[in-house]
Amino acid sequence: MADKKAQLIISGADPVDLPVMSGTLGPDVIDVRNLTSTGVFTFDPGFMSTASCESKITYIDGDKGILLHRGYPIEQLAEKSDYLETCYLLLKGELPNTQEKAEFVDTIKNHTMVHEQLKNFFNGFRRDAHPMAIMCGVVGALSAFYHDSLDITDPQHREISAMRLIAKMPTLAAMVHKYSMGQPMMYPRNNLGYSENFLHMMFNTPCEEKPISPVLARAMDRIFILHADHEQNASTSTVRLAGSSGANPFACIAAGIAALWGPAHGGANEAVLKMLDEIGDVANIDKFVAKAKDKNDPFKLMGFGHRVYKNFDPRATVMKKTCDEVLAELGINDPQLELAMRLEELARKDSYFVERNLYPNVDFYSGIILKAIGIPTSMFTVIFAMARTVGWISHWQEMLSGPYKIGRPRQLYTGVTQRDIPDDRG
Ligand code: CMC
Repeated sequence: MADKKAQLIISGADPVDLPVMSGTLGPDVIDVRNLTSTGVFTFDPGFMSTASCESKITYIDGDKGILLHRGYPIEQLAEKSDYLETCYLLLKGELPNTQEKAEFVDTIKNHTMVHEQLKNFFNGFRRDAHPMAIMCGVVGALSAFYHDSLDITDPQHREISAMRLIAKMPTLAAMVHKYSMGQPMMYPRNNLGYSENFLHMMFNTPCEEKPISPVLARAMDRIFILHADHEQNASTSTVRLAGSSGANPFACIAAGIAALWGPAHGGANEAVLKMLDEIGDVANIDKFVAKAKDKNDPFKLMGFGHRVYKNFDPRATVMKKTCDEVLAELGINDPQLELAMRLEELARKDSYFVERNLYPNVDFYSGIILKAIGIPTSMFTVIFAMARTVGWISHWQEMLSGPYKIGRPRQLYTGVTQRDIPDDRG
């Protein structure tokens, strides 16, 4: 295939040839790396048209509603795989065989506990602190405990840090929950599966250990799979950017958690439930839909729309099915859940939402499932962070495994031009 080129003509100057790079899937990208020699930069706030890196991990076709991890469709992973296998796939590029899986699960189980002294950090937080605030702090603090794996130039250190993060995130998340409830923190149980163990640490107490429902454990596992990675989203790009400066993996993941917290990103699952609270009753839906359509009103229907999926979110399709299963298992008859279903129905018919391709996204249904399982709303984004940790660390690994540069965007300066401080400022 002949080398593709783009030509850039800046009024009057000679044309500049820019190489065009092709991936295995998706649009070509124009390589603008050498543009600085011409004295201009590209301008793309919000990265609407910018590929920030080359990656082999995840592919999304937003128009067709396709999400592939290492080539495998998300629907197949949700159906035929489990979260730890998906972690292995994201990190290593292939699904594990039986022996590889057993070894991987063993390694993860080996790292589920956190240093006893880490518990002391929790006491510094108010009991009513937002769980994401505590998560940012305690995950960042891991770098003060695991000095033995912080050499980011050593592939083995990077691997151990990745395993520690995947193994310890559920333990930390459950500790945050127990702290806010004022209940004793539960130790992980390594005879349980990853998702089962998480629900055990969340809901059991030292005085009462109930068996975990397999339907709920499977639903939790699906939520983890569906949130495991999503290419260069805001939090993953944050992790890559932090990592590009040579920061340690725990600090980078803490940065990712901070970026995920925002309501336009991972905070949306929590925002969905808050919005349902605000709507209050099916009778008010029309009023809130009108508010969402009003350009002078900042209100948006949380859990609707996506930057990349402009047709449907394939994760939402799987999540809706899981949502139905969970509601059936629990026999739930919750007016708020009925309200959510009615809102979905109305928005799907409304021309404003249809014309703008605003469909319920993954967070719309995951919020409902998590509520049904009994997880408090303020913990929703923590669960997203737990699941996304593998995606973040896989991208961090990918970046550090090859040549990379510190991320340093430029800007279009529109401030005051150079001036002098007057001797007499009055
Ligand atoms: N409710 C009402 N109107 C909306 C909504 C919404 N949820 N989302 C987008 N719009 C409108 C928006 O006002 C704009 O209208 P117009 O063209 O008339 O100006 C049009 O749809 C395009 O929206 P946009 O803001 O340009 O789209 P974007 O790609 O910049 O934003 C988004 C995507 C996800 C930030 C946005 O849809 C949103 O804020 N949704 C609600 C929050 C949410 O559910 N976020 C979770 C995303 S999925 C989890 C994840 O991957 O992080």
